[in-house]
Amino acid sequence: MKVSVEPHLFVIFGATGDLMHRKLLPALYRLVTGGHLTKKCVILGVARTDQDDAAFRQQAQQTLLDAGFLTEDTANKWMQENLHYLPMMTSSPDEFAALAAKIEAVEREHELAGNRIFYLALPPSAFPTTIEALGSVGLNKSAGWTRLVIEKPFGRDLASARELNNLVHHHFDESQVYRIDHYLGKETVQNLLFFRFANVMFESLWNRDRIHSVQITVAEDLGVEHRAGYYETAGAFRDMIQNHVTQLMTLVAMEPPVGFNADDIREEKVQVLRSIAPIKPGDFVFGQYAAGKVGPSAVIGYRDEEKVDPESITETFVALRLEVANWRWQGVPFYIRTGKRLQRRVSQIVVNFRKPPVSLFRPFQGEDSSIHSNKLVISIQPDEGFDLHFEVKAPGETKVETQRLRHRYSDTFTNIPDGYQTLLFDVILGDQTLFVRADEVEASWKLYRPLLENPPAPHPYWAGSWGPTEAEKLIVHSDDHWRVI
Ligand code: BG6
Repeated sequence: MKVSVEPHLFVIFGATGDLMHRKLLPALYRLVTGGHLTKKCVILGVARTDQDDAAFRQQAQQTLLDAGFLTEDTANKWMQENLHYLPMMTSSPDEFAALAAKIEAVEREHELAGNRIFYLALPPSAFPTTIEALGSVGLNKSAGWTRLVIEKPFGRDLASARELNNLVHHHFDESQVYRIDHYLGKETVQNLLFFRFANVMFESLWNRDRIHSVQITVAEDLGVEHRAGYYETAGAFRDMIQNHVTQLMTLVAMEPPVGFNADDIREEKVQVLRSIAPIKPGDFVFGQYAAGKVGPSAVIGYRDEEKVDPESITETFVALRLEVANWRWQGVPFYIRTGKRLQRRVSQIVVNFRKPPVSLFRPFQGEDSSIHSNKLVISIQPDEGFDLHFEVKAPGETKVETQRLRHRYSDTFTNIPDGYQTLLFDVILGDQTLFVRADEVEASWKLYRPLLENPPAPHPYWAGSWGPTEAEKLIVHSDDHWRVI
């Protein structure tokens, strides 16, 4: 569907960085070549590298070539005409005044009406000074609309998130702010809402009477790569659990919103976070990968990675049990886990339904077997889709067997957009539904306060495994084990 967008200027701070090249530029390129940005989208890259427009355009072209995109004529032409660059070395008030002047010059050149997006693709430590400086030179408002996009992590605990929110709100209205969690841009994550609220079949079973437990796994086979500097200060908890995995959990647990607009949906997600019972020390396990084998390749342990402290106690794995203490979910455990250097890359939600209250079929089953509970397995990535597991009688035998109903996105749909493409387009359109609201980010830091204040020592686990064995103990009491299916 083509929606007409208003001409605008996209100012990207950190425009020579990793995120720009891996995600933002390819996403903008797809939007342009896909014909979504039918009106002008002009980009002004800002970073410390001292270079001119031509060098920036050259770099952008190389990025797109490396990423395997066809640099068609139209896109090349678009880059030549619509990409600008401004070096900012110190982020001093003078430099921000120069930025304001450059913005006006670019807008004049392209006859733009003053619609502006400021995207902070920066290390979190640079958020406060940049937001403060934008406000001080008056770039928080313009003749058109002004939007501020902030990457995760938003703060590193409740106090710092509050402080950052206060600073943001000092200069910008919440309606101007887009806190990014790229998981919310994934089609399969958005589909959780459609799956639940467009299908009466599932929603009527979606409660403590019918569901025994929910598991959410976000596993990566990659290690820390070249991001140790950041990761050593974040760890798996701040990098993944507080944001991506918690977002998945709230979408599974939320009540039906009164409407399908940004605040209706975000309101219900906040309510889930507020309903979660206080987390106790026995409810979480941290891990850190040791050397091992991922697929056929031998890999080094976390402490041996470049720029990692050889005695680091940063966690690369977290498993957690949560209880949503509300009318719908009381007594249903939510098990969530994430880790780097696990056996394979998979993000999956497994909804375990309860077993039948009475086993009529005991005589058909061998001594050791029992009826398996129905399961709904939602595959977020890769191999996006879902499977419904149910029991059937094997023909000619007195045996019960588990079978699956299977849906795969790729069987039906092509051109599934990348998460960043969706989110950037929503920013351009001014739709905040898939962005995290100020109170939501604070509610999630508040929920995890006990864990952040007393982080446990990480248990070592072999790279290529499913994490430390201690994580199994979290789950055994509920007569289950971790699974990826
Ligand atoms: C990022 C984290 O937000 O998400 C990374 O900082 C992680 O550490 C990445 O690898 C995972 O995203 P995806 O989309 O590849 O699952």
